[in-house]
Amino acid sequence: MATNRTFTMIKPDAVKNGHIGNILAMITNAGYRIVSLKLTQLSVKDAENFYAIHAERSFFGELVEFMSSGPIVAAILEKENAVDDFRTLIGATNPNEAADGTIRKMYATSLGENAVHGSDSDANAAIEGAFHFAIREQF
Ligand code: PPS
Repeated sequence: MATNRTFTMIKPDAVKNGHIGNILAMITNAGYRIVSLKLTQLSVKDAENFYAIHAERSFFGELVEFMSSGPIVAAILEKENAVDDFRTLIGATNPNEAADGTIRKMYATSLGENAVHGSDSDANAAIEGAFHFAIREQF
């Protein structure tokens, strides 16, 4: 059953470039309620665990290094059809292919440094949200 929740991270590039406020505004203007929110930083081990599903991919080392390189914003978001609508809002993984008006089109700098993460399924949204937030931090 769909939970109507997704999980996102504003990645180190977008935090460093000062885009937290604008990205959160785009998210809430799109109708998402913030269930959980924090500024945090992944250790190398955290990033390896979070992205374990991609461990065999050629870019895994680069992804882990980048995602642990600085602070991120982690958030659980709620709205009807949360996962799919959020993937539309952020746009294609490669910002060169992202549609106009999407978060990645506006704020991502490259395929590797692409500003935001969005869960790709309800099941992963639940796993990824639980990775970052205790139940008592979910409102
Ligand atoms: S997706 O969104 O899961 O379908 O995208 P995918 O292409 O499978 O990529 C999975 C995550 O890896 C990141 N990625 C990369 N990082 C560094 N270098 C390269 N070349 C690269 N290609 C993809 C991509 O941004 C995805 O991260 P998340 O955090 O899931 O967005």
